[in-house]
Amino acid sequence: MHHFRYEQDELYCEKVPLRKLADQVGTPSYVYSHATLKHHFTVFDNAFSGVPHLTCFAMKASSNLAILNLFGSLGGGVDIVSGGELYRARRAGIPADRIVYSGVGKTVQEIDYALKENILMFNIESDLELEAINTRAGELGIRARIALRVNPDVDPKTHPYISTGLKKNKFGIDIEGALRSYQRARELEHVEIMGVDCHIGSQLTDISPFVDALRRLRVLIERLQDMGIAVHYLDLGGGLGIVYDQESPPHPHEYADAILKELEGLSCTLIFEPGRVIVGNAGLLLTRVLYTKKSASKDFVIVDAGMNDLVRPSLYGSYHQILPVVKSDRDMQVVDVVGPICESGDFLARERGLPMVLPGDSLAVMSAGAYGFTMSSNYNSRPRASEVLVRDDQYFVIRKRETHEDLVRGEWIPDLT
Ligand code: LLP
Repeated sequence: MHHFRYEQDELYCEKVPLRKLADQVGTPSYVYSHATLKHHFTVFDNAFSGVPHLTCFAMKASSNLAILNLFGSLGGGVDIVSGGELYRARRAGIPADRIVYSGVGKTVQEIDYALKENILMFNIESDLELEAINTRAGELGIRARIALRVNPDVDPKTHPYISTGLKKNKFGIDIEGALRSYQRARELEHVEIMGVDCHIGSQLTDISPFVDALRRLRVLIERLQDMGIAVHYLDLGGGLGIVYDQESPPHPHEYADAILKELEGLSCTLIFEPGRVIVGNAGLLLTRVLYTKKSASKDFVIVDAGMNDLVRPSLYGSYHQILPVVKSDRDMQVVDVVGPICESGDFLARERGLPMVLPGDSLAVMSAGAYGFTMSSNYNSRPRASEVLVRDDQYFVIRKRETHEDLVRGEWIPDLT
């Protein structure tokens, strides 16, 4: 459910016509619906209302302060993967005791920062990281709360770049080796074992890999309990897929029912790290047609958003629906929608049926709320897009469009004479 819809041939975000945003804020811009963000967070969170749990939004999907602040105000926490994300989370008012820290490559500086902030827990991904965190905590005279991220070796059946729970992936600790690592963690003076963590991949449209992973985790948890290691938290990561095109992912309630059934009799607090399912369909990328052009074999629509703004089609071959901001009764045509970047891989859609468009028309690239702005770059020295939050009939620019000056901030020309 989202709040982008046509009214009399004009596409609206809640009660704001996108045409007005294109005129007043300019393009390219990311546009988010407040009601949709809130709805998606609440539906997910409420699906687990019967059990102790914490929903830690995976902020790599979308890290604007205003969006994080909204989830924080709804009782959410965040899953972070860098010092930069920790900084954003704290600036957005997320309490430290609702922050979990994942990622295979935490630096000493990042570990120290998170220890000083006293976050809820580190999700540790290797034995050497465990030693490093123990050392840093000792140095600072504190105990680090930790979980080990275990890799259950299940196939999430998603794009290979976003599968993480297979043996061959770089993430987590083999489930077979995990007991040894827990044993070691128990001996370490400056870490406190809080629980078990797992994340198997992203954009999962089937529930069975989650269930398979959970069954394997359950065996591990029971072994740990036999060893006298209490599991206070079970972090199940994120990964629930969304509809981009024809997918039919499970509803959060189906996901919750399946999980809760597997966990019957286990008393611990559940942590979830959903990203895409919360924000993916709550945001779109608004762009404007610059030119149209026909080549011998193809028709192109050249727009002012490129792979630097939304890299998913180029990187993963992802499908994003593209809608005209103002509907027309012009003929349909099959086109490649491409950006201004000097790369053949710079496209938003290929061989796509669209009503004929003209220069100046605006288009909405749908389902761009997750891994859209956060993966954008300055390639070709293009200032990054603005971000706009719409609530009812009001809109707020929650990130200004970058300027040319922003592009060269921090650079200088040394005197080499
Ligand atoms: N937790 C951990 C440890 C993760 O690595 C991820 C995503 C999540 C949670 C959130 O997963 P989600 O609920 O959003 O599926 N850039 C790719 C997606 C990469 C996902 C990386 N990790 C894309 O645009 O599809």
